[in-house]
Formats: sequence, C-alpha cells, structure tokens
Amino acid sequence: MRVPLDPARGTRDILPPVSEYYQQLVSKFSEIAELYGYRLTIIPTIEHFEIYEAKSGPGISKSMYVFQDKAGRTICLRPEFTASVVRAYLRHLTARPKPVKLYYYGQVFRYEEPQLGRYREFYQVGAEYIGEPRVYADIELFQLIRDYYEAIGLSGYAFRINDISIARGLLTRWRIPEEVQDEVLHLVDRGEIGRALEVVGGYAGPEASLLESLLGVRAESPEELRTEVGRLGLPQELLSTGVSRLLEIFEALLNLGLRVYVDFRLVRGLAYYTGTIFEISIPGFNLSIGGGGRYDTLSRILGGAEVPAVGFSLGVERTLLALESEGVLKDLVKPRPRTMLISLVSDVVFVDRVASRMRGSGVVVDVRYAQKHRLSDLVGQAARMGYDYVAIVGEAELRDGRVTVKCLKTGTQRTVSAESLGDPRELY
Ligand code: HAM
Repeated sequence: MRVPLDPARGTRDILPPVSEYYQQLVSKFSEIAELYGYRLTIIPTIEHFEIYEAKSGPGISKSMYVFQDKAGRTICLRPEFTASVVRAYLRHLTARPKPVKLYYYGQVFRYEEPQLGRYREFYQVGAEYIGEPRVYADIELFQLIRDYYEAIGLSGYAFRINDISIARGLLTRWRIPEEVQDEVLHLVDRGEIGRALEVVGGYAGPEASLLESLLGVRAESPEELRTEVGRLGLPQELLSTGVSRLLEIFEALLNLGLRVYVDFRLVRGLAYYTGTIFEISIPGFNLSIGGGGRYDTLSRILGGAEVPAVGFSLGVERTLLALESEGVLKDLVKPRPRTMLISLVSDVVFVDRVASRMRGSGVVVDVRYAQKHRLSDLVGQAARMGYDYVAIVGEAELRDGRVTVKCLKTGTQRTVSAESLGDPRELY
C-alpha cells in the first residue's frame, strides 16, 4: 500500500527549527501569563458540537470539523478555546472567588481555504479573564499582550479596537432579531457592506444609513473619536455605554504607550462578543495575528449564570510570520553549544558521567558509539551538522579518566579531566 506522505491539506509537519520556535512562543506566553496571575487550563481537543454551535458565528460554525462518535454523539474538533474554557469554568470553577484568570495553548481546527498564514490546524495561545465587568480587565489583556510581544521581540504591531455593543445597539433599536444581527455582522466582517445594509434596510428603512456612517468611523485619538461620533448623532444610551467605555479604554491604552486606533468597521468573526473587541496587526500582512474581546453573555448562552468575561487568542503561526517579517525570528531560540560525544569504548557508565557533566552545564550532548575507523567520518558529520564541539572517549581517555575535546570552529583540541569538564566553551 502506498500512503500519501504529505500531511492532510491545510495541516503541516512542524520540524526543527520551526518546532523549536513554536515551543518557545508557547513557553514565553505561559511565563508571562503566569506572571499576571493566569493559571493553565487544559481542555479537550474534541468538544460537544452544541458548545460551538450556539455562538461561534456563521463564519466559524460553517468551518467546523463535526462528526458523530461511535455512540452517535455529535462532536467537533475545537475551532477555538473560549467557549470550551467557559464550559469548563461553569462545570468546575463557579464557586471560586472571582475573577478567575485562565490561560491556554494548543491546536484548533477550522476547515478554511489554506493560504499563507491560514491553516486548517493551527496553534493558539490565549487568556480569559472571567468575572470582572470593569474596563480594568480589558486593559490588563492589552498589557499582557504587550509584555508577551516584548519578551519574544515583536515590536511593529498595532491594536485595532471597537465596542461591538454600539453596532449591536443600533441593530437592536431597529428590532432586528439576534440571528439576523449575527448574519449582518458576519457580512460586515467579510467586507460585504452593501449586502449587510440591504438586510438592515429591510428593518430600518432609510435609517440604515446610520449604520453605514457608523462603519466609516476610524479614529487615531480620543478627540477625533468624540468629533466623529458627535457627527453621527447616535442615541444617548449608546453614547453613555459602549462609546464611553471605548473612550475610556482607548485613552488608557494610549497613555500606556500602545499603538492603537479605533475602527468601527471591526466586528470580528465570532458572534459571542458583547463589548470591547480588538485585533492585532502588523504592517504588510493582511491577516490579524491575534484578537479578542468581551463576551459577558456567553456563560448564559451555555446554560450557566451570567458572568462578565473578556479574553484574547493569538495565532502562533502568524506570530512566527510577524517575527520573520521583522527579521527577529532567529533570536527567539538562544543557541546552546552542541557537542557530539564519540565513544570508541563501550563503557556506558563512564560515557554517562562525561555526558551528564556537560549536560549539567547546559550543553547539548549527542552520544555516538563508534569503531575507531569511523571516527573521522563522525567528526566530519558533526561539522556538517553544525555542532560546535566533538568530545572523544577512547581507550586511553577511559584509562586516565579524561576526555579529548575538539572545537570544530577553530580546530583546536585539548584533553581534559572528565570530572572538570562542563561547558566546553570554558576550554577555548
Ligand atoms: P479568532 O480571531 O478567531 O479569535 O482567532 C484568534 C487568532 O487565531 C487570529 O488572530 C489568528 O492569529 C489565528 N487564526 C485564526 N484562524 C486561523 C487560521 N485558519 N490559520 C492560522 N491562524 C489562524 C478567537 O479564536 C477567540 N477565541 C479569541 C478570544 C478569546 N476572544 C475572547 N477570548
């Protein structure tokens, strides 16, 4: 039988060094999230379809991998983390003092048309801040992202923000049912503004033009936002809720020194958002590298008591592309000195002692047992593979408790006591 060797369409085999970049992005995220008081949550990769059916939004629900398990249950591969994290919160954590701050990482699956930066299986890191209705929670997420990007060396990013309750508020005033609102916002998300306005026109008549003007607002400063919004003549209740919250967050983020602008065209693909929404972009790349927002009603939609919450997820693949475009990807993994330890004797205990000493100093030690006549082949192989050193243990070295270390860059060679050998860089 001949099996296809290519991975399934939209998925990838992630090999070194890229796999090491992934690992680094995940471990740095974990470190920063933990410094902010978030705790790791590991949720299943497969999930009840209903969890995601309810409020993923038309874009994501159509792209889900859904199947029947052997008992006839309808299961999906998680298309994101947030709804599963809220399910887990409702199942296990409601009695905990609030806020509950959780972070996660792992694969998610969406049956989308693959392209650069868009895959069917991809990785996300993210955090959810559950139980805090005030803007401090929203603002903290931006600070966490800022610190994460600083830790991985990404600098040229910008936040595009909005508050979805403003557009939703208008649609609700026009008595547009919620499912139709989801569809309208989905159309806006896809850039099909004309079709979105047609649908809205069916309910709002000529007033639908207010939505069109709203979607045109973009502001680089709070003053500009106030002026633009003033021109629209929005209903007072939207000014005192969504708009004033957005202004508060916008001002705080600018004062924190972040690159941020308001864009009312931003609606996001997921339908569970109720307030702040944001996406992160870098110049020259038209896909967002991260996104998030407030979803104060999702817990109720999933059958629990309502709890305010806000969160975000960052795409690992797209973060890598961003680092690459800034030319800093290689700095992500600090290289360790790499040594091929070639043993010409079969004394595994002595070899283990030598290798352990070196590994204890943070040196990568790749042990090979070889016959004497293969020694020069292996040294050549080590050089071709980019190793920094070879360490050789032969009969004489074993007898004297010593090791011969050769630096492949300079060609210099020294024999040293096995006990004193740690990081070979100290020899040269
Ligand atoms: P999302 O915008 O659907 O939000 O996805 C977050 C990030 O995942 C995107 O910004 C992007 O970097 C990455 N991403 C999305 N689709 C793909 C794809 N097909 N291939 C590669 N990367 C992709 C969420 O998932 C929400 N759970 C965010 C959130 C958390 N909202 C509240 N809490």
